[in-house]
Formats: sequence, structure tokens, C-alpha cells
Amino acid sequence: MSQKAKLIGCATRPTLVLILAAGTVSYGVARAEGIVPALHATMRTMSASLAQVGEFTKGNGEQPAAIDAATKVVMFAKSIPTLFPPGSELTELPSKSGAAPTTWDDVDRFLDAQKHLVVETAKLLAATKDGNREAIAQQVANTRKACTACHEQFRD
Ligand code: HEC
Repeated sequence: MSQKAKLIGCATRPTLVLILAAGTVSYGVARAEGIVPALHATMRTMSASLAQVGEFTKGNGEQPAAIDAATKVVMFAKSIPTLFPPGSELTELPSKSGAAPTTWDDVDRFLDAQKHLVVETAKLLAATKDGNREAIAQQVANTRKACTACHEQFRD
């Protein structure tokens, strides 16, 4: 199997899981209960995959696995807006830390943070394909900053 085919094969599974999770969302105004599990699953997968890329920079694991992991981070970062079907109300989403619901009401800011993450994860994938561990480690740090930037506004 070509490297590309392997990547796609590996990348499709989480998408399916995501679609199944999103399938619990009903039509019309999507309820927060439907979105939150999918959002959490997405976040946890990004977190684990990013950690895997980080491990590679420390000499643990092989490059193809790190590329797979970086590919997942890109894919899940891109998928964040699809978790919110038209009509979704971010104001309904509870914050884990109990932040005031008003912190959710700026969808544009939320999507800006998401776009920023997509840019950083694309750079992460490119660096991982290049294989320079130092450059990858730097980009893992940059990606984490993009995660934190959104969390600071919408999670804490
Ligand atoms: C566009 C905004 C945004 C970006 C970017 C973002 N997150 Fe999140 N993340 C959230 C929100 C919102 C929550 C909390 C949802 C809640 O409180 O229920 C969250 C929760 C989490 C959680 C907790 C999940 C759980 O099961 O409780 C983890 C872990 C996480 N994010 C990891 C990451 C990582 C790693 C990245 C970067 C690769 C990232 N996030 C990028 C918005 C974002």
C-alpha cells in the first residue's frame, strides 16, 4: 500500500466515529447535549495525537506514525465547525469550568481561533513530513499555543 493510501485508511476511521457522534444531533437547533460529546471526543483525539507527535520529537516512535498523528490533528482541527450544525447555539454549551454562558456567544471569535489552529496544524504536518525533530518540536509548541488561545477565551 502506498504511503498516501495508508494515511487515508488511517484517517478515515476517526471521521466515521465523528459522524456517528454527530448523528445524535437532531435537526433544527442543535442541542448542546448532542454537540458536547463530539466536541470532547475531538478535543481528546487532538490532544492524544499532538502528544504522539511530541513523543516523536523526543526520539520515541517512527516518523510514519508521527505523520499519521499529525494528519489526525489537522483533520480534527478542520472538523470543529462541522460539529456545530446550522442553528447551533454556542450559548447553550456549558463550559466545563462553569464559565458564564456569555463567553460562548461570539461565534466569529470562536471560528477565528479554530482557523488559527488549522493554520498551525498544517505547518505541523509539513514539519513532521520534513522530519526535522527540532522544527517539529517548535511547531508542536506553536500548535499548543493555538489550542490554549481558544481555551483561554472559551473554556476557562
Ligand atoms: C476553537 C476553539 C478550540 C480550539 C482551537 C481547541 N479547543 Fe480544546 N476545547 C475547546 C472547548 C470549548 C472545550 C471545552 C468544552 C466544554 O467545556 O464542554 C475544549 C476542551 C478540550 C479538552 C477537554 C475535553 C474533555 O473531554 O473534557 C481537551 C483535552 C482539549 N480541549 C484539547 C485541545 C487541544 C490539544 C487543542 C489543540 C490541538 C485544542 N483543544 C484546541 C475549544 C477549543
